[in-house]
Amino acid sequence: MTDVHVVVLAAGRGTRMKSALPKVVHRIAGVPMIEYVLESAARLSPRSTTVVVGYQGDAVKEALVRQSGLTFVVQEPQLGTAHALLTVEPVLEKATGALVLLSGDVPLLTADTLKTLAGRQIASGAAATLVTAIVDNPRGYGRVIRSGERIARIVEEKDASPAELEIREINAGIYAFALEGLFEAVRTIAALNSQKEYYLPDLVAIYRQRGSVVETLTVSSPGEIQGVNSRADLAAVSRVVRQAKNADLMAAGVTIDDPWTTYIDRDVKVGTDTILHPGVSLEGRTTVGEECEIHSGARIVDSSIADRVIVLNHCVMAGATVSDEARIGPFTHLRPASVIGTRARVGNFVEMKKTVLGTGSKSMHLTYLGDAIIGENVNIGAGTITCNYDGSKKHTTTIENGVFIGSDTQIIAPITVGEGAYVATGTTIRESVPPGALAVSAGKQRNIEGWVEKRKKK
Ligand code: UD1
Ligand code: MG
Repeated sequence: MTDVHVVVLAAGRGTRMKSALPKVVHRIAGVPMIEYVLESAARLSPRSTTVVVGYQGDAVKEALVRQSGLTFVVQEPQLGTAHALLTVEPVLEKATGALVLLSGDVPLLTADTLKTLAGRQIASGAAATLVTAIVDNPRGYGRVIRSGERIARIVEEKDASPAELEIREINAGIYAFALEGLFEAVRTIAALNSQKEYYLPDLVAIYRQRGSVVETLTVSSPGEIQGVNSRADLAAVSRVVRQAKNADLMAAGVTIDDPWTTYIDRDVKVGTDTILHPGVSLEGRTTVGEECEIHSGARIVDSSIADRVIVLNHCVMAGATVSDEARIGPFTHLRPASVIGTRARVGNFVEMKKTVLGTGSKSMHLTYLGDAIIGENVNIGAGTITCNYDGSKKHTTTIENGVFIGSDTQIIAPITVGEGAYVATGTTIRESVPPGALAVSAGKQRNIEGWVEKRKKK
C-alpha cells in the first residue's frame, strides 16, 4: 500500500515464558513466531518495515534471516511499548501516511485484517485505529473502556478496577496511526502505572482528550488476535496452526488418519493420495510426494521423499533424500546426506550417514553405512559395518553394482569392492576387492569332538 509503514515490536524478553530465549523466536509449527507476523505484514506491501529488538536482539535478527528488506532498531533498556515505538522515530522522521504497529507475539493475525485496518485508518483520517476483539476470557489483555459508542481509553489488567476486569472487549495490541504528530503525542505518555512502564495504549486517552478521532476495528474471529505470553499460549496457538495445516493438506487430497496426533510443520509439502498414520511428525522443510504411506512413529526432518515411498513404523530421518518406490523401516535411522535410490530397501536397525544406496539395492538388518557410495542392485547382509573413522579422519567406502556383501562384514575404509564381487559372511575387508572376486578373511573352522563332555567331567 502506498504510504504505509510497518513497525513490529519484538524487544521484550517475555518474562512469563520463563525462557532464556526471547519470546518472539519461539517456534510455532517449526517457524519462529515473529516470522508469521512479518509475513502477514509483507502482504500490505509497506514502504518500510522496522523491527524493534532489544532483549537478545541478535537472536531475533538471526531468526529473521529468511526475510529481506527489514530495518532493525534497538530498544535498550525496554521501558514499555510506548518507549519501544519512540526508538523508531529516527527511521520514520520524514515518513508520511500511516504506521501499522504490530506485536511480535500476536502471530495469527491475518493479512486480510491488516489490510482492513490500514484501509480504515487511511479512509477515516483518524489519528489512530485499534484492533479490538470480544473474547470469552479477557485475562491478561488490556480492556477497552468506551464512553457511549466511542473508545475512551485502554486499561491494562494490572491497573484495572474489579468492574473494568469484567469487560470482555480487549486491545489486540495491533494499531494503525496517522504518522503526523504521532511521536510528539507518544512522548507525552507517562509511566504512571503499577508496572512503571510507558504504555502505548495510553495514547488512546491522550488523543481522545485532545479531541482527536480514535477508531476501532473489532475482529469477528477473536482467535486471530491471541497473544502469546506463556508456554500455554504457545501450545494453544501451535495447535491452531497445525490443525489449519492439516486441514489444508486434507483439502488437497492427503489422508491424515488422525489429525490431532499428526504434527506437520508449516513449510512441509505433501502430495496427493499420500496416507499419514497417527503419530507422524513431518518437520522443517520436508517434502513428501504422491501416493506415499508413512506409518506411526516416523519423524522426518528436512528430508525429501519422492512418490510411492513406504516408510514403516518408528523411522527417524534428517536431511535424507528418498527416491520413488523405496521402502524404509521399521526402525531405520537416516542421517544427513543419506540418499536412497529408486526401489531400494532399508530395514530394521539400519543407520546411514552421507551414504548413497543405488537403485534396487537392499540393506535390511542391523547395519551401519557411513560415507559410502553403493551402486545398483547391491545386497548388504545383516550386521555389515562400514568402519569409516580411523580416529582422526573419515574415509569412503565404494561398493560397485551387483555386489553381494555377506552378513557380519566389516569394511575398513577407504576401500572399493569391485562390480559383481562377493564378500563371504564374517569377513573383515582390509583391502579392495577386484570385480568378480570372492573375498574371504575368516580362518578355517576347527571342531573339537567331545569337548563339552570333557569339560563337564572337570
Ligand atoms: C500488550 C498491551 C495490551 C494488549 C496486549 C495484546 C501494552 C502496555 N499492553 O500487553 O493492552 O491487550 O498487548 O496482546 O502495550 N515490547 C517491546 N518493548 C518493550 C515492551 C514490549 O518491544 O519495552 C514488545 C514485546 O516484545 C511484545 C509486544 O511489545 O512483542 C507486547 O508486549 P507484551 O509485554 O507482550 O505486552 P502485553 O502484556 O501482552
Ligand atoms: Mg503480549
